[in-house]
Amino acid sequence: MSIATSHSHCDADAKIGVVLTDPDDWTARAFLNNIRKTGANAFPIDLSTLSASIAASDFSIFNADSEYLKLDAILVRDVGISFSLETISFKFDLLRAFENSIIVMNRPTAIQNAANKFFSFYLFKLACLPIPQTVISSELEVAMKTIEKFESVVVKPIFGSQGEGIIKLESSQPESELASKLRELLKERGVLYLQEFVSNPGRDIRVFVVGEEALGAIYRISRKGSFVSNLSQGGTPVKCELTGEMKELAIRAARAVGADFAGVDLIEGEEGLLLLEVNATPSGKGIKLACGIDVTERVVELLYERVEGYNK
Ligand SMILES: Nc1ncnc2c1ncn2[C@@H]1O[C@H](COP(=O)(O)OP(=O)(O)O)[C@@H](O)[C@H]1O
Ligand SMILES: [Mg+2]
Repeated sequence: MSIATSHSHCDADAKIGVVLTDPDDWTARAFLNNIRKTGANAFPIDLSTLSASIAASDFSIFNADSEYLKLDAILVRDVGISFSLETISFKFDLLRAFENSIIVMNRPTAIQNAANKFFSFYLFKLACLPIPQTVISSELEVAMKTIEKFESVVVKPIFGSQGEGIIKLESSQPESELASKLRELLKERGVLYLQEFVSNPGRDIRVFVVGEEALGAIYRISRKGSFVSNLSQGGTPVKCELTGEMKELAIRAARAVGADFAGVDLIEGEEGLLLLEVNATPSGKGIKLACGIDVTERVVELLYERVEGYNK
């Protein structure tokens, strides 16, 4: 199999799987369309519909129609939310099994690193990236002391996304009120992720990185009365001119988790830019709307470049 690189057409019989959960999602459709434009076949794949069969001499992955998936590469739009450790593990382990013989982009390890707000911060620290102070603990006492120290704290789920489940607590609140809120969260999550609240101009910056390049950025302006700027929480995308500092930070952050393409969230603190997170399954819709940049085209080109390198 050979897949041509950028701007050219590839083998008409090349089969690229696009891992998705919502076929109507803008980014999923853009990936499928851009692959088809190059002449290759694009197959939407919902990992939750796949089965695996293993014997001493055989391993195969197949769908509900018992068709084997013979793919040349996989592009991951999103893996979806799972309800148990077993289902989410199975999805990632399917990707890891695919990765044994074909290119999977982003790599499952990169997606897992990025989705984990504790481990990604550990990797950012190792890469000497600027990040807000963060404490992770299951101990109520440690959490109370952290709030006292940081004064203004954001509490997030370790595996959260789209701004869901994020709250702000202040050390000025009555101690009993804070303790009861933390107990409630501990009961729900078992572990607390507490981060100093970074004073900011009511927006964050989402930079799109593909390969070694930052393609563009948007400000996401928080809706009135909210400190969370995610578009899914009512944030508004506005074009942001990329500075050299933003580019460098975003590229290093994507590299730290091992992502080939990523949406990197930065926040403008009083003392400069801080890194908030890397999303290794980012939506391309906001930046298309605000800047007219279709990042999915470049992602598909990079996939082909990686496939070509792999086959050499
Ligand atoms: N430490 C913080 N200080 C100030 N605002 C924050 C902080 N952490 C998150 N936010 C706001 O909440 C949003 C969502 O946080 P983020 O860590 O990116 O989680 P998610 O994965 O849910 O997007 C950010 O885009 C930002 O607007
Ligand atoms: Mg975010």
